[in-house]
Amino acid sequence: MDKIRIVGGNELKGTIPISGAKNAALPLMIASLLTEEKLILENVPRLADVALLQRILGNHGVDITTNGKRNGDDPYAGQTLEIDARVIVDTIAPYELVSKMRASFWVVGPLLARMGVAKVSLPGGCAIGTRPVDFHLDALRALGADIEIDAGYVLAKAPRGLTGARIVFPKVSVGATHTALMAAALARGESVIENAAREPEIVDVADCLIKMGARIEGAGTSTIRIEGVPRLKAARHAVLPDRIETGTYAMATAMTGGDVMLAGARPDLLEDALETLRHAGAEIDATNEGIRVRRNGAGILPVEVSTAPYPGFPTDLQAQLMALMTKAKGRSRITETIFENRFMHVQELARLGARIHLDGDTAVVEGVERLTGAPVMATDLRASVSLVIAGLAAEGETMVQRVYHLDRGFEKLEEKLSRCGAEIERISG
Ligand code: EPZ
Repeated sequence: MDKIRIVGGNELKGTIPISGAKNAALPLMIASLLTEEKLILENVPRLADVALLQRILGNHGVDITTNGKRNGDDPYAGQTLEIDARVIVDTIAPYELVSKMRASFWVVGPLLARMGVAKVSLPGGCAIGTRPVDFHLDALRALGADIEIDAGYVLAKAPRGLTGARIVFPKVSVGATHTALMAAALARGESVIENAAREPEIVDVADCLIKMGARIEGAGTSTIRIEGVPRLKAARHAVLPDRIETGTYAMATAMTGGDVMLAGARPDLLEDALETLRHAGAEIDATNEGIRVRRNGAGILPVEVSTAPYPGFPTDLQAQLMALMTKAKGRSRITETIFENRFMHVQELARLGARIHLDGDTAVVEGVERLTGAPVMATDLRASVSLVIAGLAAEGETMVQRVYHLDRGFEKLEEKLSRCGAEIERISG
């Protein structure tokens, strides 16, 4: 298994190109199941999760071609996928695949809406919490589907198609909003989704569906209205920039000090996180090129933050913020409200000398003068990258194990950081 070796202490200086958003690319690829015509997606990041979803869609009969790189192409440019779901050969998503990546459960909505039937494995628990799928299933039931659970599988049927309905989510869910949106796009009549997730990735998927001929209003607000259409058509869409990757490198820069341009990043996608970083003492400027992050001399100031659905502070940046706060001048409080078990990084950060104690769903971080390198590992993607951030500011060598977590969501991480002066390398093993 590969490892990442970091020797901390260097400031970051230079440019980091921001990739397309993983959490938009995945549902966009899944949306291809809604049409017999070709969906062309540009700016798709080269990530293990994207490759796995290609395999999963391939299992349903979807044909995906990736445009090869030509000499002279920007090495950081995203890939273009031509996705052709003309023939769906199999409406079953098996446990072996769904258990590897939760988001693949989301095929249930499009398969059911287009084919009238889907058999999709329940995803099971995961490292960050129990993560049920009841909201997804209730939304599909509201649209008229008959749902049964049998032997770990969801059997969903709607032989005469889905019918528009009012769907009210008891709690904001990104995935369930994707499911409801995609299914309602092909349902008969009008649907209204209330308490919908407002994340930019929902807006990106809705924009793509609209290009495919869907009739959707209100994406990005809590109420989304969809007038179902009988079929969707070919479209071309570019994935929006990754706000979590942006926030991660912004925090890395705030941690080490220095001056980094996050090229292609969109500040409007992470205003709350950028404001938090300003409070922590980083200088943040939006420019035509992207977001410039600087911190010189002055120390990191402590913050009090609670994660919340968009536009609040994202849970997917909670671990990275905690890494930053390990070196703040004083006590920070970071409360996790989305997932009940998203603190696995706490014990690993402690291995580097961080002082953190948990008080229910709140981590209380007492900033320390110095961190010292150590071997660490984490059980999910964002926790792993928080260890990289801490390692960049720790004295001596930090070895991050289980790098496959990082490869799921960060494209060319060690390359992007070492180009800015970090001492970081991948050790194959
Ligand atoms: C998406 O997961 C993201 N994944 C997650 O990113 C992200 O952390 C999360 O949204 C929250 O922003 C992708 O986009 C691929 P939810 P999702 O449904 O959709 C509860 C990363 O690191 N809930 O918004 O699965 C749930 O348990 C990942 O990139 C139910 O109770 O999250 C949680 O407490 C990790 N029943 C809350 O809602 C349901 O049916 C929000 O989860 C669905 C969710």
